[in-house]
Amino acid sequence: MTTREKIAELESRRLRMEGGGGPKALEKLRATGRLTARERLALLFDEGSFDELDLFVSHRCVDLGMDSVETPGEGVVTGHGLVNGRRVFAFAQDFSVMGGSLGEMHAAKIVKCLDKAIDVGCPVVGLNDSGGARIQEGVDALSGYGRIFSRNTLASGVIPQITAIMGPSAGGAVYSPALMDFIYMVKQDYARMFITGPQVIEATTGEKIGATELGGAMTHNETSGVAHFVAENDADCIEQIRRLLSYLPSNCRGKAPAVETSDSPDRIEDALDDIVPDRSNRPYDMKKVIALVVDEGDIYESQAYYAKNIITCFARLDGKTVGIIANQPRHMAGCLDINASDKASRFIRFCDCFNIPILTFVDVPGYLPGTRQEFGGIIRHGAKLLFAYPEATVPKVTVVVRKAYGGAYLGMCSGQTGADMVIAWPTAEIAVMGASGAANIIFRGLNDEDLAARTEEYERNFANPYRAAARGYVDQVIEPRNTRPAVIQAFRMLEGKTHNKNRPWKKHGNIPL
Ligand code: HXC
Repeated sequence: MTTREKIAELESRRLRMEGGGGPKALEKLRATGRLTARERLALLFDEGSFDELDLFVSHRCVDLGMDSVETPGEGVVTGHGLVNGRRVFAFAQDFSVMGGSLGEMHAAKIVKCLDKAIDVGCPVVGLNDSGGARIQEGVDALSGYGRIFSRNTLASGVIPQITAIMGPSAGGAVYSPALMDFIYMVKQDYARMFITGPQVIEATTGEKIGATELGGAMTHNETSGVAHFVAENDADCIEQIRRLLSYLPSNCRGKAPAVETSDSPDRIEDALDDIVPDRSNRPYDMKKVIALVVDEGDIYESQAYYAKNIITCFARLDGKTVGIIANQPRHMAGCLDINASDKASRFIRFCDCFNIPILTFVDVPGYLPGTRQEFGGIIRHGAKLLFAYPEATVPKVTVVVRKAYGGAYLGMCSGQTGADMVIAWPTAEIAVMGASGAANIIFRGLNDEDLAARTEEYERNFANPYRAAARGYVDQVIEPRNTRPAVIQAFRMLEGKTHNKNRPWKKHGNIPL
């Protein structure tokens, strides 16, 4: 063979590999409404920046007829490129090749992609579309999953790991996504995620359920809390992943990129003075408060459909990323429950891993009472918040908007559970418990009239920010309209915070799970 012929051979081999399962299989895929693996990656990366790895990797299975089966690209496209100018690694499973099933070498490609991303300190994005373990490869496929899970765990807290369910994800295939930081799900019937599918469920328990109802995007965004974001289609999903990456640093040693903003750090927002209703048992929308404070009112909410009594979102202040956790009085009066505790604790820990300062807005009447909560382990789950906040070493600023009662306030980053700076509005009610609950205990036995009078007295004396401010538990009491300048100033002051001051050496803590 001449040199020219060898070069031409490279081109023809490359084209064959890039063709995946071939035109017919790709067309079948498109007919379901999905994009192909390569089309997805082309949307993810800045134009022309994708650099592929391991194009020629192939399986080495000889069982069950596999000796004569070619799997171009091994059913997964891996590589790196630029997203908004910053390097990101990615893998996209190619359903056109044996249903994107995962064999030994398919797994090896993903493992190499994760290893490289860890080595060079870049985020990784996984686009999942797979029939799960390649049945013909048996234990080799199973071991492949094991290797991926281990890498996901090693990468956790080192680089951001983002994953999207853009096709089937069943059995063991769900666990790599579950080990990553954020899961996107496309709201189309082809995207679903479950450990055991509808047929196995019916055979074992007799329950009848459709695949989408069992493991579709809204099930996991609304009910199970497994997923964090929902997308209308493939293109929307990838656009959202690009947006999320813009809030994040590349790795645990870096800082999120700051962006230009035309929103003044000194902006006074008069509308904030009118947001909290005069009667303290009336709801209002905490998202409005957040939007009025952050740059250009722009927030990107994680788990928007799950545990709506707490809000978790990314936003920017003075061009810099912050992670926001806030009680939402519009849902369950903003009470903390099992799901809210899980949702917020995980978000706090993500922010802390990646040097994202945390801003907390408090309006919490307490933990949700009831046997469902107690039997479900609210003690164990609620403790996650009490652990996650003090554990976090990033700058933490808390704004007490209204109710801050009892243990639930301590779970929302009070000064004693981690806040570097506590700012209260005059509408704040910081006390050990609510007025009527307190009066019922300490004034038990009084007639109704006297009880009402003592309750009112308790409210007047204790349901305000000044008792806490008098002890120095609150650093500032401010007019609501001044919240944006106040929190920006607080975060500026905290930029020089020494992260590990007075922390005893340990391998890692043992968060209640
Ligand atoms: C080998 C597979 C495969 C698999 C699909 N294919 N899944 N090949 N191993 N796991 C092949 C099909 O044979 C078919 O090949 C092609 O991919 C496309 O699949 P279709 O069935 O035609 O597609 P569709 O109708 O869209 O259905 C997709 C599907 C279904 C729902 C994913 O294929 C399916 O149920 N697959 C099996 C799922 C499963 O049980 N996986 C194993 C899980 S066990 P041809 O040649 O016909 O085009 C597991 C354990 C790991 O994952 C545990 C680790 C902890």
